[in-house]
Amino acid sequence: MTAKQFTALPQDLQPQRLPQHVAVIMDGNGRWAKNQGLPRIAGHRQGVDSLKEVVQCCQDWGIPILTVYAFSTENWQRPLEEVNFLMLLFESMLRQEVEQMHRQGIRISFIGELGSLPSVLQMEIAQAMQITANNQALHLIVALNYGSRHEIVQVCRQLSQFVANGELQSEAITEDVFEQYLSTVNIRNPDLLIRSSGEMRLSNFLLWQMAYTEIYCTEMLWPDFNREAFHQALVSFQSRDRRFGKI
Ligand code: IPE
Ligand code: IPE
Ligand code: MG
Repeated sequence: MTAKQFTALPQDLQPQRLPQHVAVIMDGNGRWAKNQGLPRIAGHRQGVDSLKEVVQCCQDWGIPILTVYAFSTENWQRPLEEVNFLMLLFESMLRQEVEQMHRQGIRISFIGELGSLPSVLQMEIAQAMQITANNQALHLIVALNYGSRHEIVQVCRQLSQFVANGELQSEAITEDVFEQYLSTVNIRNPDLLIRSSGEMRLSNFLLWQMAYTEIYCTEMLWPDFNREAFHQALVSFQSRDRRFGKI
């Protein structure tokens, strides 16, 4: 990550009302590339810069947790060439950026079925998590081969195994207990979800965790997303009245 100059919080944002966890569905890379007359992979490459900019914003403005959807369990159904490119992109990004992120105090971790990723990528992931494990400035969580339904089913399997073994009573399964087995254990639920490219769906992302998350959709394609777009998402967030079912 290139060292960029610190940018102060825009004046129309209230520092005490910033979201403490932002989740992002980085969508529209393929359409961006198509609009430019380029192959889809060019959009993915360009999307990396948008991610870097959002990471920098979170650091500058003091947003402590950022979770980004990089690859879904459904994305394997894309052409092999695109899938392979993405895996190599994740690999090279980690190789290039981890040291700089570490210097900036960023902790990077991953959620998803990491065991079925290419082994070189798995190694980069393990290294990145290990090197940055104690960093405090920003927690960047990358959802890679992540699918929320799969995650929920895994929790059900584990809990039912405990019940079958007599280690847990089914009546003892509460929402709090259930959450202890999600990959997001100990991470607060996202306050704000941003989705780019005009789509208005969750696409199997953090379904449990986003029960009360504020959703912000923008027409902007991910490679065009930048600091100003993120700012606008935060302005929208601060205008919301989060009721959580109350009045
Ligand atoms: C999001 O952009 C990136 C990934 C899903 C990996 P897309 O590749 O989905 O771009 P569009 O939606 O086809 O434009
Ligand atoms: C969601 O985008 C997954 C990621 C951004 C990684 P998709 O492009 O895969 O979602 P759909 O297919 O439009 O729902
Ligand atoms: Mg898409």
